[in-house]
Formats: sequence, structure tokens, C-alpha cells
Amino acid sequence: MHSQQRRKFLTQFSALLAAPLWAHSSPARIPSLPEDLDVTRDEDFWHQIKQAYSVSPTLVNLNNGGVCPQPRTVQEAVEHYNRLSNETPSYYMWRILDKGREPIRRKLAVLAGASPEEIAIDRNASEALETVIFGLSLQRGDEVILTKQDYPNMINAWKQREHRDGVVLRWLDFDLPTEDPEMVVSRFRDAITPRTKIIHLTHLINWCGQLMPARDICTMAHERGVEVVLDAAHSFAHIPFSFSDLGCDYAGTSLHKWLCAPYGTGMLYVKKERIAGLYPLFGSPDPMADDIRKFEHLGTRSFATEQGIGHAVDFHNMIGTDRKFRRLHYLKNYWMDALQDVPGISFGTSRHPDFGGAIGFFSLESVEPGKIASTLLNKHRVHTVAINWEHLHGVRVTPNVYTLTSDLDVFIDGVKRLVAEQ
Ligand SMILES: Cc1ncc(COP(=O)(O)O)c(C=O)c1O
Repeated sequence: MHSQQRRKFLTQFSALLAAPLWAHSSPARIPSLPEDLDVTRDEDFWHQIKQAYSVSPTLVNLNNGGVCPQPRTVQEAVEHYNRLSNETPSYYMWRILDKGREPIRRKLAVLAGASPEEIAIDRNASEALETVIFGLSLQRGDEVILTKQDYPNMINAWKQREHRDGVVLRWLDFDLPTEDPEMVVSRFRDAITPRTKIIHLTHLINWCGQLMPARDICTMAHERGVEVVLDAAHSFAHIPFSFSDLGCDYAGTSLHKWLCAPYGTGMLYVKKERIAGLYPLFGSPDPMADDIRKFEHLGTRSFATEQGIGHAVDFHNMIGTDRKFRRLHYLKNYWMDALQDVPGISFGTSRHPDFGGAIGFFSLESVEPGKIASTLLNKHRVHTVAINWEHLHGVRVTPNVYTLTSDLDVFIDGVKRLVAEQ
């Protein structure tokens, strides 16, 4: 039964890839997979998915932790809407494409497990999170808990509030990886004082792929009257979760990472009851309104790019978040298992699915991270990234849905050779 379902999907999907955009731009035409079909280890299936992208056949891209490529349908949609915009910009952009924002908001809301009235569309995770960081009404002396493992843009934004408004930053520093969520929650709990107003939490830590226990931290924080800002740049459309279930008060994510939406797309989530109290970053007629659209007064932006988000959601839904997560987690464990006996290797990422997804991190005793990454690129045409941040010194490896195990074999072989040549 399963193999019949799989064959039917692969046939429909090949037809989809062969057809021009106008023939398959309607979501209804994208074939969907039966819920219970497990394709985690099915390389034929993922080979078809790879054909839906236009990734380089000569470079193995294992830096999807930076930014992700878009499926062809998304690329074509952006080109299509851009050409349309150029026919008569003020007509097509402001009267036609602008009407497409509400359906995209609704699609994103379903994926996010939130109400559309809690979702604003913007240009990246930095914009979404800085809207929150700069929009919160904090007084001099109010405390914010954050970690040394957070993303630099967000750290800089909080430091700016510290410098300008006298907000007090309380830093946590974690030794990662960890498989002890209670320890993580208790570190945050112990840092709370009567002046604590906010916990800033990175859900999936970009440097090494650690998944933090966001729901437990939110519950603990709310019991103490503290709100949580969630940096979901790497967890959204990667790890199965919903914002309403996690309970965070505010969240920001890029859509050009795991959703594979056009470059320069992002999303802000604000819990309904928090919208009125949060100032927008760009002025709006009523800054204290409880309408999520007050966060979208950006002025002219790329409507073509924004419309491409809808196609990315359709593509993502065709695979499904659960199936995608299982595959990504499998790929990470595939290369970590293959390298575990290499002399001098150590890993900075858990292999358990409760603590991470696609992102993996390793270091070698005898070779510094920059040299590992440059050798992999120059000798083996494998693109990874060297990380030197706080205690983390190593190489980050991030496959995606278009990565095959045969691509990972090139990387695995490259690391083994590099170690043998030392
Ligand atoms: C954890 C985290 N937060 C925020 C960002 C910023 O994302 P963007 O470049 O979309 O603003 C990144 C980017 O890598 C990230 O890894």
C-alpha cells in the first residue's frame, strides 16, 4: 500500500516539476502525501525533492543554517510577480498584489499554530525581533534575561536598550550540548528577580543546533509574571511546534531559512493580548491599537517577494513539517554516526530528536575550524561554516530536504581524509 502511495506521489510530483508555473501555481495542484507515509530513508523520494530545487550539482551545500535556497516554484513566482509589477507598478503592486497579504497571513497562521490576527509579515527575523525589543515599554532598572548563545543582532539590540534606556541585562552562559531541560529551565528560573520583565530565548541555537525547552521556560516565566520573546529563526518550519502551544508572548522568524521562502521575508508573532502594549518599529496611525497590521507600515517593499511566501508554504505543506523534521534529523545523525569513530572528533550537538534537528556541529582536536571548512570547500567542494563563538569552536553542518545521503558521503569522506592527512 505504502509503495503504491509513494509511486503515485512521485509520478504526480514529476509532472508538477515538468510543468510551467502558470500550470501549477494553484495550491490545489500540488500533490499531497498521505499522513502516515514514512519516507525518511527513501532516497528516491528525496531525489525528486532535490529536482524541485535548482541547487548546484558541483557544490554540496551544507550551510543551510545560514540561509536556504528556494524551490523552483518559489523562484518562478517571484520572477512572475516582479514582471507583473513592472507592467504598471502602482496598479499591480498597490491594487492587486497588496490584496494577497491576507491569504498569506492566513497560510502562515495555520503553519504557526496561531490566529491570523497574531501574524505580521516583515523582511527577516532581525526586523521581527527588533520590533519587539525596541517596542516593549521597559523602565530604567527593568531586567531582561538572555544568553551568550543568542544571535548577535538580537544581543546588539538589547545592548542598545541597555545603553539608551538603562534596561539591565542578566546573562546566562550554557555549556552545550545538553540533554537536561530541567537544568536549562532552572538556570533561567534562578536568574529571575522582582525586576525581571523579559526572557529572551533562542529556540534552536544557530551555532550548534541545540533545541531549548521553550514550552517549559514559558510556563515557568509566566508563573512569575515574566514575558518571553522567542527567537524562532531556526525552529520555524523545521521543528514541529505551534506558538499557541509553546505559549511565548512574542516571536520572530526569518522565512528565507527553513520555509525556503524568498530572500528578505520574515514573520512576527505577537500573542493577541500583547499587541496593544507593543509599539510598532515603523510609526502607524494608532501605535496602541490591537491590530497586528500596525506592525506592517514599512512603506514600499517587494510585493513580488512577499507573494512568493505563499508558494513556499504550499511547497512546505506538500512535505509536511513532521516528515521534514524526521528526514533532517535522520540526515544529521547519518553523518554524525558515520564520523563518530574518527580520532580526535567531538560533537557539539545531541543526536536525540528532543534536542535538535538538522543542525550539527563538530570539532577536531588537531585541526582548527577555519582550516576544516576551507579544506572541505577547496578539496572536496563541500560548503560548511567555521564557528568561533563563545565556547564553541568547530564546524557547523546543515543539510536540507534536497540533501541526499550520497551528498553527505562526500562530506564524510572529506573529513576522514583530512584527519588521515594530519
Ligand atoms: C538564531 C537567529 N536569530 C536571528 C537571525 C537573523 O535572521 P535574519 O538574517 O533573517 O534577520 C539568525 C540568522 O542566522 C539566527 O540564526
